[in-house]
Amino acid sequence: MLQENLTVVSQRQLTADVFELTLQGKMATTDPVAGQFVDVKIPDSSHLLRRPFGIAQVDAAKSQLRLLYRTVGQGTAALSQVTAGTRLDTIGPLGHGFPTDFLQAGQHALIIGGGTGIPPLYALSRQLVAQGVEVTHAIGFGRQQQIFYEQEFRELGAVHYATDDGSYGFHGHIGLLLDAQFADAEFDAVYACGPRGLLMAVNNRYREHPHAYVSLESRMACGVGECYACVVPAQADPTKMYKVCDDGPVFATGEVAI
Ligand code: FES
Repeated sequence: MLQENLTVVSQRQLTADVFELTLQGKMATTDPVAGQFVDVKIPDSSHLLRRPFGIAQVDAAKSQLRLLYRTVGQGTAALSQVTAGTRLDTIGPLGHGFPTDFLQAGQHALIIGGGTGIPPLYALSRQLVAQGVEVTHAIGFGRQQQIFYEQEFRELGAVHYATDDGSYGFHGHIGLLLDAQFADAEFDAVYACGPRGLLMAVNNRYREHPHAYVSLESRMACGVGECYACVVPAQADPTKMYKVCDDGPVFATGEVAI
């Protein structure tokens, strides 16, 4: 883990409220695992807490890493205004990422995501494809205008979209898409990141799967396991607590209560 002033290389707006931020620094050469995140200090003194962002892509040769984020409040709105050359005080890579070592070339993984859960799944999909793993994506959005990185995912494997309003792909929640499309399909690994409803659907459907993982989103303060702002109870024992930032954000299905 490093604390470093990363330099903004570029910032690109992808949809009405989603931005792609490319940063440069030594952190990108520390071999981050897909699913790990960075904690960025907003360059505005009115925002004291750092913001956690999943790493979407790493280019170690260029010492660059890429974040995708949605503007959900004043902090991320301020971040969306930073331009090339700005230095961002950043800690990372943090947390435990998605386990992939057990997969062999030729095996098949299902990646399930939605909304702001997309960024770490893009990094994961790239990592799996580099391992020779076949990847199928099931991705949910509210409506077609919210979709980003479609071409990028299609270049890695099959993509099935679900939209809540039916404007693109399957009409309905991603959980219904899983029922309709993958009820009898067998996968060697299943990975998910996204809103709580999506994670609940995956946690229920793949609870007994030996290699199924969910990445939790949580409000965080310290980001490094010291403040207990991000705890979630174990599913089997509500008195046992896990810290999303430090024990997670990736957990096996059935491990934590969602
Ligand atoms: Fe402080 Fe997780 S954010 S312990």
